[in-house]
Amino acid sequence: MILIFATHNDYKVIELRKLLPPEIKLYSLTDIACHEEIPETGNSLEANAKIKADYVKYKYGLDCFADDSGLEIEVLGGAPGVHSARYAGDQKDNEANIKKVWKELKGKSNTKACFKTQIYAHIYNQSFSFEGRVDGKIILESKGLGGFGYDPIFIPKGYDKTFAELGEEIKNKISHRAIAVASFLSTLQHIYNK
Ligand code: IMP
Repeated sequence: MILIFATHNDYKVIELRKLLPPEIKLYSLTDIACHEEIPETGNSLEANAKIKADYVKYKYGLDCFADDSGLEIEVLGGAPGVHSARYAGDQKDNEANIKKVWKELKGKSNTKACFKTQIYAHIYNQSFSFEGRVDGKIILESKGLGGFGYDPIFIPKGYDKTFAELGEEIKNKISHRAIAVASFLSTLQHIYNK
């Protein structure tokens, strides 16, 4: 069985391949010679995941899925949300994004936030949507060297360390991405075992 992950991010594809049963062959956009950057013009994570999955389904007719993730800060009305990667500009600069978060949170005591991942899939002519969410809070200093993006300023609920301090092993068990991928995998197993 062939499944396309609508991403150019090889790291994500390698990670997911490790989780899939061997009979599912996972390919990236690059693997199917799709070199376009699919425009993420949706106004929600789910809309963006759907745009990318739809693109592959309708252009190539292949079973596929796409993901989109972001950080939502309660007191900022869910920002940066879909704009997480480019919050401080098109250069996708993690440090500048973090500084912008701190600027926006100045003088605010509520720093509750969550990370969300949406996965949208087309399998056997059916569509599926999965969400993963991890709640926590933003801190006003950077802590830890692991991870990427907003990891050094996000402390998940029930912990006293940032994602960047907790490290890959713990993060990969509790993260928004891990939760969304787990429900996607259980649906995949259900479909393919029918
Ligand atoms: P993507 O959809 O996985 O590419 O994520 C979009 C943006 O959200 C990233 O560029 C990061 O800024 C932010 N983000 C998503 N997931 C994480 C995470 O696990 N840690 C930190 N930042 C993240």
